Amino acid sequence: MPGDVDRNAPTPDTATLLKRNPVQALTIAVVLAATAGAFAYVGGFVTPHRLGANHFVDAMQTAAGGPHAGFRRAHAKGICIAGSFVGAAPGRAISKAAVFGGAIVPVTGRFAEAAPDPFAKDSSEAVRSMALRLQPAGAPEWRMAINDTPGLHVSTPQAFYDNVVASTPDPATGKPDPAKMQAFLAQHPETVAFLARMKARKLASGFFDDTYNSVDGFLFVAPDGTKRLVRWSMEAEEPFATLTPAERDAKPANYMFDDLLARVRRGPVKWRLVATLAQPGDPNRAAEVWPADRPRVVMGELTIDHVESEATGNCQDVNFDPLALPPGIAPSDDPIPFARSAVYSVSFRRRSGEHKPPSAVANQSAGARS
Ligand code: HEM
Repeated sequence: MPGDVDRNAPTPDTATLLKRNPVQALTIAVVLAATAGAFAYVGGFVTPHRLGANHFVDAMQTAAGGPHAGFRRAHAKGICIAGSFVGAAPGRAISKAAVFGGAIVPVTGRFAEAAPDPFAKDSSEAVRSMALRLQPAGAPEWRMAINDTPGLHVSTPQAFYDNVVASTPDPATGKPDPAKMQAFLAQHPETVAFLARMKARKLASGFFDDTYNSVDGFLFVAPDGTKRLVRWSMEAEEPFATLTPAERDAKPANYMFDDLLARVRRGPVKWRLVATLAQPGDPNRAAEVWPADRPRVVMGELTIDHVESEATGNCQDVNFDPLALPPGIAPSDDPIPFARSAVYSVSFRRRSGEHKPPSAVANQSAGARS
């Protein structure tokens, strides 16, 4: 892993951060305060009977048949990664964030599968994710958690919660009640449209040839203060390949991770960070796809050259909070990231206080830096 990254570092408290990096500490404190305030508004913390972050995590745990102690309450099966990011000149014109400055920025992160079961077979998983922490020298960091899906299935925190509840197995049958899901879908045409997009897409053969999307809208703030609504993607530079369902079923239970380790042993893997710019009238709702002709700006290139299991890597004790944003990148009026930030914090607190059994992806399969 890059030398200035503390392996297995717990999230430091503000006092420690202030000693280490006052700029970063202040930014995180401001972000946390803004996040808490915003979610109080969005999620109803101000009125105790409305939906709050604990309700989300409780519901997600129930839907999953109970918590898997020590693991993330979603995206439970994962592996740590490290490498670097270099910003590109066009990116600097639309965001003043230090990460786009052009210097080599150390990166740590995590690939995962979205399900809450840390021991699920890879062939049963349809959503893969990339989480990153970009830490430019002497400047605030940027964290992101992005999925390989064409948008999100819902546009509001309430709809996300209602969908989790509708998917929860009935204790009598051990299966979700189809009537509840039908009722949810009848109220949410955006979820029906999302499911059709999911059915039409081809799954990438691995983490290394997959493209990951912010899905949520954020504001990029240019050096002159201009704010632009964007969604970004990490687009694989590796040629895309896919497997048939039968080929996937025939693969070993952890094939996505084994194949990633093998691929990185052969050499670094790269992604292009591309921002898509909204045009006036484009909906800032995570379930709504923007037209394909929107302007795209290449913001830089990500290189991943190290993969290591959660047991010894440095991603386990990290909360990839989507609102840990540096100056130059700001939340928009998309309500989902505010909810995510609060919910991830609850999931992080719960798992941090638990004993974690070994992950399915064991250390002995970990690849060495190439
Ligand atoms: C209201 C909507 C959402 C809720 C309630 C939710 C909930 C969660 C929870 C509880 C975790 C575990 C966090 C932890 O313990 O560190 C998580 C992880 C994650 N979520 Fe979400 N999520 C939401 C939407 C999204 C969206 C829109 C994306 C991306 C497009 C996303 C991507 C991820 C990723 C990549 C991780 C794993 C991060 C890691 O590897 O640590 N989520 N989510």
